[in-house]
Amino acid sequence: MKRGEFLKSLGLSTSTLMAYWCLGTAMTACGSSDDDPTPDPDPNPGSGSGTGITGTTTGTAINFTVDMANSNNTKLKTNGNYIITGDVLVARTTAGAYVALSKICTHEGNPVQYRSSSNDIFCQSHGSTFSIAGAVTNGPAVSALKTYTVTVSTDGNTLTVKA
Ligand code: FES
Repeated sequence: MKRGEFLKSLGLSTSTLMAYWCLGTAMTACGSSDDDPTPDPDPNPGSGSGTGITGTTTGTAINFTVDMANSNNTKLKTNGNYIITGDVLVARTTAGAYVALSKICTHEGNPVQYRSSSNDIFCQSHGSTFSIAGAVTNGPAVSALKTYTVTVSTDGNTLTVKA
C-alpha cells in the first residue's frame, strides 16, 4: 500500500493529506542530503574509526598505524605525497622512502608541510625549511623537527609510526 492510500484509508481530509505529503517530501529531501554517502575528502584525516589511522597521533607517546588501503591514505602509495594526522606529518619522499616528523615547526609552532618539488619540509609562516631527516636547512627555526620511526608491513599496505 502506498503512503497516500494508507493515509486515505485513515479517513483524513484532502488538506490533511497534502500536509502529510509535503512533510514527507521535505523530510525525504533533507534525508538525502544529510545522508550523503560520499563525504568530501579530508586532507588531515586525524585518527579514529573510518580514517585508516589507529593509535596515538598526538603528544609524546606517538604510536599509530596508517592503513594505506583506506581512501584517506592511498596517496601515501605514490612518491611525493604526504598526510598530516594529529601532530605528525607522514610523507613518501620523491625517492619512495617513508618519513614521519613532527608537524610542529620549532620556530613558533605552526604546521609544516612536505614539498615534493624540493623533497624537504617547509614552514610557510616564516620560511623555515628542514631536511626530510628533520635538520634545519633554513631559519629562522634553529632546532630540528622531531622524527619518528616508520615501518612498512610486508604487504606494503600498513605503516607503523612510533616515537
Ligand atoms: S613558525 Fe615556522 S618558520 Fe616561524
